[in-house]
Amino acid sequence: MFFLSSIMSLKTMKSPESGDRLIIVSNREPCIHERNKRNKYSIPTGGLVSALNPVMSSCHGLWVAWGSGRGDFKVVDEENRIGVPPEDPAYVLKRVQLGKEEVEGFYHGFSNSIMWPICHSFISKVEFKPEYWNQYQRVNQKFSQAVNSEIVDLKRDYIWVHDYHLSLVPGYIREKNSEARISFFWHVPWPPWEMFGRLPWRRDILKGLLNCDLIGFQTESHLRNFLDSVRRGTNAYVDEKKRFIRVNDREIHVDDFPIGIDFDKFNCFHRNEKKINASDDLMDEFNGLKIILGVDRLDYTKGILHRLEAYQRFLEKYPIYQGGVIFLQIMNPSRWRVNEYQKMKKSVEAAVGRINGKFSRVDWTPIKYFYRKFSQEQLMYYYHISDVALITPLIDGMNLVAKEFLATNKDKGMLVLSEFAGAAGQLNKSILVNPYDCEGMADSIKQALEMPEKEKRIRCHHMKNIIEDMDIVWWLDNFFGSWARVYDAESMDFG
Ligand code: G6P
Repeated sequence: MFFLSSIMSLKTMKSPESGDRLIIVSNREPCIHERNKRNKYSIPTGGLVSALNPVMSSCHGLWVAWGSGRGDFKVVDEENRIGVPPEDPAYVLKRVQLGKEEVEGFYHGFSNSIMWPICHSFISKVEFKPEYWNQYQRVNQKFSQAVNSEIVDLKRDYIWVHDYHLSLVPGYIREKNSEARISFFWHVPWPPWEMFGRLPWRRDILKGLLNCDLIGFQTESHLRNFLDSVRRGTNAYVDEKKRFIRVNDREIHVDDFPIGIDFDKFNCFHRNEKKINASDDLMDEFNGLKIILGVDRLDYTKGILHRLEAYQRFLEKYPIYQGGVIFLQIMNPSRWRVNEYQKMKKSVEAAVGRINGKFSRVDWTPIKYFYRKFSQEQLMYYYHISDVALITPLIDGMNLVAKEFLATNKDKGMLVLSEFAGAAGQLNKSILVNPYDCEGMADSIKQALEMPEKEKRIRCHHMKNIIEDMDIVWWLDNFFGSWARVYDAESMDFG
């Protein structure tokens, strides 16, 4: 049986003696097994896993994450480890098992009902419940214990912690292993102090993070907000120019590292004849309509309601397009146990129903809405055939969908992008919009549809070059290079 062979192969996989070892620590696991099905697993959507999975596959290290699937007791070994991908393992996943109350308080509670809305500046959605904080500390302890139990060589094990779920992990690891090499990447925005400072546990979170040697952010403005929080929320010394913080005799380096994508994987789509034929078939289904695409995880930060309103305004303002365009909104289910997400789903569905009810004709419906998981492979077909991508989050750490769309689409389409996505700094040749400006968004859709081919090509080439130059490999080189310099090493040897 394959799962046995994959467990056995964990023992023979690259050992730390043969080089440095990367240990990734994140809440979301890269491979979710379905309940009681040992052979059936899925790769979750979301920026973090899409970015790190290819990295880990080439590094052959260890990934510590919450075992969110519920059938995993059948596939992991006695130390909760499994090879990934299970049929041909490239690295080891160690699952942290959480009980029902822990999931509730740590994941749905503190992470997604406190940290997520605070980081995205949605103060009205924050539920300040002390019991969530208790579970957050407890689960962060569990993660750090899982890491500590795996450390073999403090100078060769590089521990890379990710995102807002695990801000206390660096501190807990350092309590046991004072010489551990720890870095952090903060994937979501770091909010202004006026927002972050409202957290009753702000000092503990900052203190936890200041146990890292290097902390990375998506953009310079998130980095500056963080430094401001450290200055105002702790006694640490902050050197903004040289980008470091000093706590007692320890230095913590900080920088911005805009995350990239595996450019070639998306860009080679249009060189694959079979895929092109299949996407032509898909396009035929839309009978020559101009295709406008939205792809998001279901989340109130993504601006889906504002986007729908703008599309409605576009149809009203420019009626000539009625019957000539279709808006495909793909929404990946996410965090459905959190109230705000259930409310959001209902509001989006009501808006889709209202707009379709108002404008539909016997032979035309203005919006097609999908609420289910699409794989990256499936999304590529939609990226390829679309004339416009409407990526208009109210706020976003980076937004990789914008980059994936441009890398896949062969100069046919144009990107309409929110000014408040982290990606806007790099993709500034797109049509940048304020997602709160309904009239402006409606006009931008028209502008994108009517942009002369030549102008589109020039703008898209410019952006594609940036996405290609600053791809996932560039991001890693950059991050690992800075991390190695912290220890005066030239580079790291992850094999
Ligand atoms: C964002 C976060 C990730 C998270 C992802 C999906 O990209 O930065 O840390 O994994 O959303 O959210 P989920 O709650 O499903 O893990």
